[in-house]
Amino acid sequence: MARILVTGGLGFIGSHTVVELVNAGYEPVIVDDLSNSNIKILDQLARIIGYKPDFYQLDLCDEPGVKKLAESEPDIAGIIHFAAFKAVGESVHFPLKYYRNNFYSLLNVLNVYHEQPVNFVFSSSCTVYGQPDHLPVTEEAPVKTAESPYGNTKQVAEEILKDMVAAGSNYKVISLRYFNPVGAHSSALIGELPIGVPQNLVPFITQTAIGKREKITVFGNDYNTPDGSCIRDYIHVVDLAKAHVAALKLMETANFTGYDVFNIGTGKGSSVLEVIYAFEQTTGVKLNYKIGPRRGGDIEQIWGDVNKSKNILKWQTELDLDTMMLSAWEWENYISQNPL
Ligand code: UD1
Repeated sequence: MARILVTGGLGFIGSHTVVELVNAGYEPVIVDDLSNSNIKILDQLARIIGYKPDFYQLDLCDEPGVKKLAESEPDIAGIIHFAAFKAVGESVHFPLKYYRNNFYSLLNVLNVYHEQPVNFVFSSSCTVYGQPDHLPVTEEAPVKTAESPYGNTKQVAEEILKDMVAAGSNYKVISLRYFNPVGAHSSALIGELPIGVPQNLVPFITQTAIGKREKITVFGNDYNTPDGSCIRDYIHVVDLAKAHVAALKLMETANFTGYDVFNIGTGKGSSVLEVIYAFEQTTGVKLNYKIGPRRGGDIEQIWGDVNKSKNILKWQTELDLDTMMLSAWEWENYISQNPL
């Protein structure tokens, strides 16, 4: 069985990807420093996949530690690199913290495995497009000047990977540009675990619905969109997790060489108000929400053209917005009754 290193494997997207790797017959090896995740997710994973996956607690900025990891795990066929800081606002205030963590960890991992053939999947983001000139946005759209140090780490990391492959590396690399991952596993045993007040829309909705927050504010209803609120391409985290398996499978074929990049979304945009209504309708829970001012730095609307993913990655989403909302709600209920 092919062993796949999953950095950040106890996080939101990482943990769901571990499940899909096992479902597809791979053997995940999790590395996580627990800086934004919980060790008990390992037990939750065991309940889903039937065994406790191999786990190393390690900060990937620790170069000697990463060398030791590579000595203990020489037979790695693939790496899925999630481990990174991801809070946009925080990155504006602490840019060095973001550049240090997101680049050192990437470079250390690349360095220790560069002498063997490895299939590498990088967690990128649609944030690299900024506000695109044309919608849906394709992979050919220009990468815009990053709005935040966080966004810049994604852009520069893509360039690092591209340069490394162009220089004749043993790595094959796919960057996946995620749109907005939401929802949770159907078992409700894993999901998003925001620390403190959630910054993202869906965890804020579920926390409001369960009574942890008094009300949710819609950040602006005066945008140039049909209902005035911002539009995003929300994607179920389980569909997103499966895209990583598809990326590994593609790199295993002889046809694939070098580097490529794919949009990972549904290809459909939903407004903030549509998400709120979908949540209310599927769960039957009324949300206390109000319209507030715009949030600084938000783009108006974005959704992805996902034809390249359909045609080349042979992957497409299966789960709709209602399923995203219901699963996020089931997870919120679970975690409220069973705090980790
Ligand atoms: C944000 C980041 C993006 C990152 C992604 C990770 C910004 C500008 N972008 O995306 O780079 O990759 O998170 O998941 O921060 N909203 C409300 N009320 C709330 C929370 C959100 O109305 O309480 C709205 C936002 O204005 C936005 C939409 O919901 O229109 C989605 O917001 P969010 O979940 O934070 O995602 P993004 O901003 O798209």
